[in-house]
Amino acid sequence: MTSTFLHLSGLISCLSLIWVASGQTTSLAPKKFLSIPLGGIRPTGWLLDQLMVQTNGLAGHEHEFYDYVSQTDWTGGTSAYSSLEEGRYINAMVPNGILANNSAINTKTSAFLSYVLSHQDSTGWLGPEVGTTKPRYLWGRYPFMFGAIQMTEFNPSLTDQVVTSLYKFVNLANSMLKSNNTGVEEWTATRWEDFVMTLQWLYDNHPNGTSSQALLIDTMERLKWTGFLGRRCFRSRFFFPTTAVENTPNPFNLPLTWHGVNMAEGLKALPATYRFTHNQSDLDTASQGWDLLFQYHGRPSGIYAADEYLAGLEAIRGTELCLVVETMFSGSYLYQVIGDPKFPDRVERIAYNALPGTLTGSTQYLQQQNQIFAGNMSTNPFPLDGPYSNVFGLEPNYPCCTVNHPQGWPKFITNAFVTTPDMASLVHLYLGPFSTSVTLASGSLYPFSDTITTTLTAKAAFTYYVRIPSWVVNGTIAINGAAPKAVAPVNGLQAVTVSAGTTTFVLQLPAPITTETRPHGAIAVHRGPLHYAFDIPRTQKVLATNAQQPMAQDLEFDASAKWQYAIDPTTLKFSSLPPASGTLPSPIFDSGLTPLKITATACLINWAIAAPTFAASPPTNPACTGPATTITLTPYGSTKLRISEFPVFKST
Ligand SMILES: *[C@@H]1O[C@H](CO)[C@@H](O)[C@H](O)[C@H]1NC(C)=O
Ligand SMILES: *[C@@H]1O[C@H](CO)[C@@H](O)[C@H](O)[C@H]1NC(C)=O
Ligand SMILES: *[C@@H]1O[C@H](CO)[C@@H](O)[C@H](O)[C@H]1NC(C)=O
Ligand SMILES: *[C@@H]1O[C@H](CO)[C@@H](O)[C@H](O)[C@H]1NC(C)=O
Ligand SMILES: *[C@@H]1O[C@H](CO)[C@@H](O)[C@H](O)[C@H]1NC(C)=O
Ligand SMILES: *[C@@H]1O[C@H](CO)[C@@H](O)[C@H](O)[C@H]1NC(C)=O
Repeated sequence: MTSTFLHLSGLISCLSLIWVASGQTTSLAPKKFLSIPLGGIRPTGWLLDQLMVQTNGLAGHEHEFYDYVSQTDWTGGTSAYSSLEEGRYINAMVPNGILANNSAINTKTSAFLSYVLSHQDSTGWLGPEVGTTKPRYLWGRYPFMFGAIQMTEFNPSLTDQVVTSLYKFVNLANSMLKSNNTGVEEWTATRWEDFVMTLQWLYDNHPNGTSSQALLIDTMERLKWTGFLGRRCFRSRFFFPTTAVENTPNPFNLPLTWHGVNMAEGLKALPATYRFTHNQSDLDTASQGWDLLFQYHGRPSGIYAADEYLAGLEAIRGTELCLVVETMFSGSYLYQVIGDPKFPDRVERIAYNALPGTLTGSTQYLQQQNQIFAGNMSTNPFPLDGPYSNVFGLEPNYPCCTVNHPQGWPKFITNAFVTTPDMASLVHLYLGPFSTSVTLASGSLYPFSDTITTTLTAKAAFTYYVRIPSWVVNGTIAINGAAPKAVAPVNGLQAVTVSAGTTTFVLQLPAPITTETRPHGAIAVHRGPLHYAFDIPRTQKVLATNAQQPMAQDLEFDASAKWQYAIDPTTLKFSSLPPASGTLPSPIFDSGLTPLKITATACLINWAIAAPTFAASPPTNPACTGPATTITLTPYGSTKLRISEFPVFKST
């Protein structure tokens, strides 16, 4: 049952399995919650500001100068997977442009879409490989299709054109899969679920009769069987890697099975499969797989480590930006299919820690929990990534995250509310400042405040739900000015009965400081959704400036003060200084700007470096080399150099 990652990834030899039509599935299992079309949920307050920071930065300007996406005819990319980076760009920038209401970006994404649709090959093929000698790999189209779906949901007048085009492509893909799985190379085989989700979108929204439905389900089953998920390939927990994998023989003879971004995307594979198998064990395995991934590779920032391949628990190993945004998207989908509140709890932690920690100001390829230097590393701790991986810049290490990272905030926003399947109830899932047509939580400073005020304007009575995160202790709700009552969530959701007219309620969601045990007896500090780190004072050096766009710089950061601290966990104290104006400073994740801090009694210790560019593991039970002092921890997402897994000592 714990063979999840065989399930997600399977054996290469399974590719040779002969696909046998089950002939049994005729319908898709419903989801527990439905997403709301792009544009139905809007960010406000600090979250809108954060979206504008990326829109005014690299995300919003890369189409003006960055090779991969500067040509509307999709000829910028040079990789064998041409159209992949363009597709990723569309997947990310369609929601970014629409939520930021940015006409330059919207014009660009619309031009991409119409170019691709109007150049669809007569066979149904989509993309620039038409009429070229490039192989027809299916994978490069998957992110493009996600972009086209989002644009169609926002602008229903595109429906006929997009749906017709997708069906043409599905017919072609189905015939390719029938003839010896043409178009399936190893990346297609590990990321097949993204196509299945597009097929399910067609099935749910544009089914077009029983023969089209049969075609869609047949294609889903074929994708599953050509993907790394063969039922005969199941193995035990024994095969799940419980440490960094670079020295672990890969039983699948295929390194991609343990590739971090594949896993992030592959988290959607089993819930997508469940919808056509109706087999509860697919959901159980998906849920257990999620837990195993974080148990053996998890970070206090909410995400897991994979500096290309799964990287274990050591604080200097890396987490790729692409897997941060893909895991958030997968977690949103897992909740919609399975309904377990552990998924949104974690997505929120990733969004409020790992995401801003790696892209505020500029983007990294890899982030580290303990990061004492960001620059071109003479010696680097990442066995399979280059020395430039943790630089903050345009394209550190690979181009994928440059085009893929902008999906993080917009998709978090789009998935912040869902509806119940009968569409009778609205569920506020990710807490923060949002508005929908009936809801306004715009006064909310969450996660920078424990108080959330929500105003609902309804034409008729309905039941509204709001998620109460698992870390809340002694939370209260006060409806329409009545006395606060203890929250009483069921399966993570607090029901609020709303009458016609206006309803206002105030949630108080306090949380205690908690510590998490990390390797070598170190600890990590949390309060509520936020993880706290020591923001190492730093100097900055420009490593490179892009010739076409001088704003696109690669930055090195060097520690300019000591960071070798142990802390006494019994002395942690939280404090918050809400802004008198009610408005948070911008960009809120810049160093020192959040109103929250945790102080700790600390002392300097002997803590070696493993190389001039990264720290050794935190020493266990170190002795102080200096007097006790007080250090301040701030949210992880606002730090660029940091210590966030600390050795401990007793101050008295
Ligand atoms: C987007 O901007 C246009 C004008 O630039 C404005 O008319 C429209 O109301 C804006 N839409 C939203 C949702 O803010
Ligand atoms: C819908 O089904 C009809 C009948 O099978 C078919 O002719 C038509 O092409 C289908 N539409 C699309 C968009 O595939
Ligand atoms: C099918 O693919 C296999 C493996 O790539 C290859 O050996 C075989 O020749 C192919 N068969 C046909 C009919 O193309
Ligand atoms: C459900 O999946 C499990 C695990 O793959 C399998 O053992 C079981 O036979 C499946 N059940 C059905 C009804 O297909
Ligand atoms: C990083 O430094 C190495 C030498 O240590 C150099 O060869 C390489 O070009 C540098 N990388 C970049 C992107 O500057
Ligand atoms: C929660 O409330 C109980 C009862 O008032 C109190 O004993 C406890 O200390 C509170 N917990 C926290 C973390 O505030």
